[in-house]
Amino acid sequence: MTISDIASDITPVERVPTLRHYAMTAPTHFTVEYAINPWMDTSNPVDPALAAAQWEELRQTYLRLGHTVDVISPEPGLPDMVYAANGGLVVGDTAVVARFRFAERAGEADAYAAWLTAAGFRPRFTEHINEGQGDLLVVGSKILAGTGFRTDVAAHAEIAELTGLPVVTLELTDPRFYHLDTALAVLDDTTIAYYPPAFTDASRATLTSLFPAAIEVNSADAYVLGLNVVSDGRHVVLPSAATGFAAELRAFGFEPIGVDLSELLKGGGSVKCCTLEIYRDPR
Ligand code: ARG
Repeated sequence: MTISDIASDITPVERVPTLRHYAMTAPTHFTVEYAINPWMDTSNPVDPALAAAQWEELRQTYLRLGHTVDVISPEPGLPDMVYAANGGLVVGDTAVVARFRFAERAGEADAYAAWLTAAGFRPRFTEHINEGQGDLLVVGSKILAGTGFRTDVAAHAEIAELTGLPVVTLELTDPRFYHLDTALAVLDDTTIAYYPPAFTDASRATLTSLFPAAIEVNSADAYVLGLNVVSDGRHVVLPSAATGFAAELRAFGFEPIGVDLSELLKGGGSVKCCTLEIYRDPR
């Protein structure tokens, strides 16, 4: 063992944040009036004022960390539009618009395409279903892509073609973890955390070989959508109820910042779902 091995054993890694560019859609029209995932219960009403306050606290958290937050106009009749991550995937100058699985959300694609156009992108489309950054997570210069519930595996090849980045397919098995961002968190260009039971054996094997040092999260944290986080490489904004995961993050040298998004959880989403990241070109 060299001195530097010993040092790295006792000194936590210094995690370095980078400034990020996010886009968010206010929960102005957010309700739970249909149920397309097991978290949604149409008999459990949303408190609109509380939802708005929680969303604003998330936005302010990003601003305090120095990040840029663009705000997308919410549209009446599209209650799930608050989950901006699903609107598409923006990597470098490539902006792929979502194609939604359920008719209830289909109209959001036009709204997100219009926003991307206004933001100066030329929107690109897939033939197969893709639910944007719900299932397509950029890690360094590759994309981890979920399938099983929402995004079609056939869209993964289309995403690789459109972005020019390698795409790793991961198959989800538990309906509570219907989007990849509910079961796996990207913490920096080489570090992830995930909930192993949400994946098939083959996909778990893929994750262990790609990320041998990944953080594994327990059921208590996974079941409050604790993995639905946004990280700048140092600060990890996460649901405040995920206290076990917060402690793990601290042990790994990250700085967890808990936010309470209890109203947004009623629709089956949390921090990451509400946040579309506009990635700089990772190539
Ligand atoms: N109600 C929405 C749906 O079922 C929630 C989407 C959450 N977004 C996410 N990125 N996981 O589609």
